[in-house]
Amino acid sequence: MAINESDGEIPMESPLKAHWNEAYTKTETQKLGWFEASCKETIDLIHKTKIAKDAPILNVGVGSSFVVDELLSDGYSNIIAHDFSEKALSVLANRLPQNSNKVTYLLDDLSNPEKLLNLREVALWNDRAVLHFFTEEKDQNTYFETLKKVVKKGGFVILAVFALHGAEKCCGLSLQRYNAAMLQRKLGDDFELLTSFEHVFVNPYNSERPYIYTLFQRKHK
Ligand SMILES: C[S@@+](CC[C@H](N)C(=O)[O-])C[C@H]1O[C@@H](n2cnc3c(N)ncnc32)[C@H](O)[C@@H]1O
Repeated sequence: MAINESDGEIPMESPLKAHWNEAYTKTETQKLGWFEASCKETIDLIHKTKIAKDAPILNVGVGSSFVVDELLSDGYSNIIAHDFSEKALSVLANRLPQNSNKVTYLLDDLSNPEKLLNLREVALWNDRAVLHFFTEEKDQNTYFETLKKVVKKGGFVILAVFALHGAEKCCGLSLQRYNAAMLQRKLGDDFELLTSFEHVFVNPYNSERPYIYTLFQRKHK
């Protein structure tokens, strides 16, 4: 599968995108600081939603995460793998060639979305370790506006981000850390918090990284 930035002019690469492309170029997936060998916490939350196996699952900023492999082996068949790093999506696509009809690759910037805005009726928005990189309020607002445009009524949102007492940086970048109440405020009253818990992720270098995991449902009204 070819992952093209666009069909027209070659756009300038932003420094941030270059930063992430370099991370995925220099380091193999299993040695990335955020690599998790098992995505159990996320998969358990997805099971709680009881969404259909063919329901559209949008994995924002998925990188080369094995969450896609785990979803496939669980029988999910409508998986959108999104990132703005074409290198990350290439690593993922090269690992999963036999599943090309079940995974759609979407290259777009969450801070300046275009293709993401064409999505509608997403059953599940799944984010692990992405939202916390948006430290500017305008980027956070863009993120949540996009989420609210594409997640269907009755649909679900998983936000797994660094907890308030978590690390201050990841991949050399500053972070906005969260608790469940802060995420609820960003989502607003149309979303109900179904469950939240803290999970201390131990990274490949044996450092502890406390996360807050949250599962929200968009109200049906
Ligand atoms: C720490 S990694 C997490 C990757 C994956 N979710 C995981 O848990 O392994 C953060 C990911 O967010 C992506 N990302 C960062 N800023 C982004 C943006 N503005 N738009 C889209 N993706 C972005 C990066 O390319 C990277 O793959």
